Amino acid sequence: MRDGHNRQINYLRLSLTDRCNFRCVYCVPPQGKEWLEHSEILTYEEMLRLIKVFNKAGITKIRLTGGEPLVRKGVVEFVAAIKALGVIEDISMTTNGSLLPPLANRLKTAGLNRVNISLDTINSANFTQITTCGRLDDTLSGIKSALKAGLTPVKLNVVLTEALTESDLTYFTELVYHQPISVRFIEYMPIGNQPVQRGMDVAMVKKLLGLAGREMLIPASVIQGDGPAKYYRFPKYQGSFGFITPISEHFCEACNRLRLTADGHLRPCLLSNTEVDIKTPLRNGASDNDLTELFFTAIREKPEGHSLCRASGYPAFERSMSQIGG
Ligand code: GTP
Ligand code: 5AD
Ligand code: SF4
Repeated sequence: MRDGHNRQINYLRLSLTDRCNFRCVYCVPPQGKEWLEHSEILTYEEMLRLIKVFNKAGITKIRLTGGEPLVRKGVVEFVAAIKALGVIEDISMTTNGSLLPPLANRLKTAGLNRVNISLDTINSANFTQITTCGRLDDTLSGIKSALKAGLTPVKLNVVLTEALTESDLTYFTELVYHQPISVRFIEYMPIGNQPVQRGMDVAMVKKLLGLAGREMLIPASVIQGDGPAKYYRFPKYQGSFGFITPISEHFCEACNRLRLTADGHLRPCLLSNTEVDIKTPLRNGASDNDLTELFFTAIREKPEGHSLCRASGYPAFERSMSQIGG
């Protein structure tokens, strides 16, 4: 299925819950805002029905997101149920990693292909400051368990904030030398939350990593993935570095995705408030054809791009990142 800007849409980001066991400052809504009620959240049966319908319309890749997807009960069985449909080529997950150790092997057996894990710093005080209630050791154990279970390629998501230090870059360089891990630096997007202190920018990170001005971009096809990261690899390194630059270098011309929020809204673009409510029709007896039509409506609503750039200021977002799934 192509959208109005001739982009092929084959990738669904499916948020299982808005809840999270961390409260990253750039991601969750401010304290006091309630989580969604259970009754507002799509059941696994409802999600499976939508996946089947969307697959017939072109979706072949699914990324499970949150909040934190692993806080939702039954996630292993849900992955197995998606796999059992036999039509989804790539099932992946974005997670904070802290709950992975006891689940990694079971998720792999159920059919999860790979995980992306958020890790903004390996300084434990900075880590706790960013995540509010997270423990660095739990996430590091999660990364180890993902590698051991073969949930590969493992990618680390590092949002650029003041928590990132030069010693972190030294650590990440060692890691990428020895392990088949991709470390991706992500520009902070000011969505629905209090602003964070930005810290190093992409140019500075590239300079400190020795990547500035070097022609080491490796083809996206070498790294399994469907996202906006651009990758670099040094010779002899097992892993790679990646950069996700929604602010300084837009990548919307290659957009291939749609999002489904935990409360059943199709979101054509991460950075636009436009949504299509699919839960209400679903719960009111919509036919598969009706649901397909809503899927097409969401694709037609996809904007050509977004207008997030520092010069023109930022629009107001109605949801926080954790309520969308990134
Ligand atoms: P891969 O298939 O492994 O490449 O996944 P991914 O990079 O698409 O997924 P992930 O959930 O790890 O996202 C990494 C970062 O990219 C997060 O900060 C997301 O918010 C951001 N991101 C992902 N997709 C989009 C997008 O379509 N637009 C924008 N602006 N940011 C995105
Ligand atoms: N800007 C950029 N990336 C963000 N993430 C969460 N909030 C933001 C933000 N405001 C990242 C998380 C996670 C992924 C889903 O999105 O670190 O890895
Ligand atoms: Fe697609 Fe919107 Fe992301 Fe651009 S910002 S890549 S249009 S989802």
